[in-house]
Amino acid sequence: MTRTNKLLAAVLLASTTATAAPPPPWMDKALDPDRRAALLEAQMTVDEKLTIIHGPMGRPRLGIPKPERALGSAGFIPGIPRLGIPDLQEADASVGVTNPGNVRPGDGATAFPSIMALAATWSRALAYRQGVALGNEAWSKGFNVQLAGGINLMREPRNGRTFEYAGEDPLLAGILTGDAIRGIQSQNVVSTIKHFAFNNQESARFYADAQIGDAAARESDLLAFEIGIETGKPGSVMCAYNPVNGRQACDSDWLLNQVLKRDWAYPGWVMSDWGAVHATDNALHGLDQESGEQLDREVYFGAAFADRVRKEPAYRARLDDMVHRILRSLFAVGVMDRPAKLAPIDYAANGQASQAVAEEGAVLLKNKGDLLPLKGAKRIAIIGGEAQFGVPSGGGSSSTVAIEGPGLQIPVMGTGVLGSPRLMIYHPSAPVDAIHTLLPDTELIVDDGRYLSSAARAAASADVAIVFATQWATESYDIPDLSLAIGQDATIAAVAAANPRTIVVLETGGPVLMPWLDKVSSVLEAWYPGGRGGQAIANLLTGRANPSGRLPVSFPASLDQLPRPELVGAGANGERPPAGTKPLPLPLKEGADVGYRWYARQKTKPLFPFGYGLSYSSFDYSGLNVTGGATITASFIVRNTGRVTGADVPQLYLTSLAGTQELRLIGWDKVQLAPGESRRVTLTADRRLLARFDEKAHAWRIPTGRYEVALGSSAADLGARAEVTLPAASFKP
Ligand code: BGC
Repeated sequence: MTRTNKLLAAVLLASTTATAAPPPPWMDKALDPDRRAALLEAQMTVDEKLTIIHGPMGRPRLGIPKPERALGSAGFIPGIPRLGIPDLQEADASVGVTNPGNVRPGDGATAFPSIMALAATWSRALAYRQGVALGNEAWSKGFNVQLAGGINLMREPRNGRTFEYAGEDPLLAGILTGDAIRGIQSQNVVSTIKHFAFNNQESARFYADAQIGDAAARESDLLAFEIGIETGKPGSVMCAYNPVNGRQACDSDWLLNQVLKRDWAYPGWVMSDWGAVHATDNALHGLDQESGEQLDREVYFGAAFADRVRKEPAYRARLDDMVHRILRSLFAVGVMDRPAKLAPIDYAANGQASQAVAEEGAVLLKNKGDLLPLKGAKRIAIIGGEAQFGVPSGGGSSSTVAIEGPGLQIPVMGTGVLGSPRLMIYHPSAPVDAIHTLLPDTELIVDDGRYLSSAARAAASADVAIVFATQWATESYDIPDLSLAIGQDATIAAVAAANPRTIVVLETGGPVLMPWLDKVSSVLEAWYPGGRGGQAIANLLTGRANPSGRLPVSFPASLDQLPRPELVGAGANGERPPAGTKPLPLPLKEGADVGYRWYARQKTKPLFPFGYGLSYSSFDYSGLNVTGGATITASFIVRNTGRVTGADVPQLYLTSLAGTQELRLIGWDKVQLAPGESRRVTLTADRRLLARFDEKAHAWRIPTGRYEVALGSSAADLGARAEVTLPAASFKP
């Protein structure tokens, strides 16, 4: 044997001996996650326990360097190598694995459409698929925690983060967010659900005090979280920046200890939002981990916490519980059994998932004279929206640099939080190129939309004009109003005046007003459509894809229709205020009547209702049959009455609760049908949606009486109705 061979043999022998040692008892997959966590905790010293309850950002910030082992991301919690507890490498967010400040030089990711677009698909299968792709990418980049699962309901359409959230309805948002979380975690990556709770706007986000009663809270935003947690079983809940009913969310005994951990028996851990911890005793009120600690006024879960643990039994007990919750989730999600590591990523497959969401999430709002899909046009004018460069994306911590590159970046309004640049980032998927690829024989006249005269001239010279209109939205800043900025409303009006065959493609974070609606033929809401957005839009415009998105939010006709026509805290951006800043009351007077329920209660008509969306096909419903009992089950037939294959989203609403008028989505399905094809759909209501929360009894209550349901194609287009009598019932949360 040569010297090298001998060495190799010795190394091989050593490694065989090492792998032959029996795995520690907590690595026994046959045991449940709680037992495994308990076995591991028993091996930990108090000092070791103290290290995993707080950590800094995963990148250099505020004079604190990137932790040595951090891969570079939003957050980092050092693990305990001696016991095989991995570092928590925490990456943002729901629409891609982000690379903040380019900390991992040049590392792009699949840019998924906004969560608003995902919610607009109303498709559980797609929510799961996006989650799987995102989770797989996170895992393959070495991340084991994905800060996804944004689910704050849209109470304020000007909220700069509307695009990160799943709309205004607790059932739709809860189920789809839960499915996306389930997908992420199927890849052995912990997902959060966030921001718990009532972080419904960015203006004054650190001190706008959301005020809402217990029952209204449980029937709305908390129900969305509850359903999301049941569906997705996220390993972690991220508590929010804002106060709720006078207590900071990360210090709210009511939210964290009573609702989440007691009533819902949530077994995972509560991590803070970055800079949302206010004192060491937040731990006693339910907070388990301090994230991004250099953003807090001091590190509350570091030395100060250790000191309390030595002196106060309550902190000692809390420490054990905090550690148990963290480890339990790492076992439950499979982080311990299949640790994340660098691996090749199938970007082509993930790009297809992204495009599928963009195609199914786009909502056709108007289509006069069936101008869409495009047919036979010889000259098309394409105006505005930087459509020759790409498609816009949302800003802030979720901002993802597409694998195809960052594309066009337009600086907007100075600087954002902590001096970060505010950039409107376009994914380089240009609608103009994609349309040209699909319609190579059509002449495209591209106009940037800067001058009304030039835009109008281009439109007048073409058979059809397509205006791309964009809205930029970002974390830490609310949109001042719902107009299309920098004169785009005027551009659309000028184009429509020059050529009535005008199609508007909206690329927005959420709702906008449409003063020009009567003048244009067609409107397609494409949201932020992600890294393949250009191709998706071209497929939709040309009929290769049939629109099947439905609005997950109501579009108001004017700001006066909103519960708060004036934005509370308008102009106050998302920066942390000076110490001692008084809370700003934010009364949520709509209570549980969020979105379409508010319009129904006020008897006002929004511009476009929740649930609304057109197709290139048409559908009808028949044979509604409803049975009562412990809950309501409805079945009916959906038929494609059009000439092309398409998908429909029949929706079931509760319209009367024990004789009192109500409006609640209680079920839906997404059905793909060939022309003439029909299918029977059966829906069963979640009992909480038939109940009211009784604060005194601390229980859900279904009063006996007549319950009416209606089948519809939106919250405002209700057709067949049926009634059942339900017996009284009461059940604990
Ligand atoms: C955001 C969170 C995000 C965190 C880490 C915060 O500013 O509110 O959604 O996960 O930063 O980047």
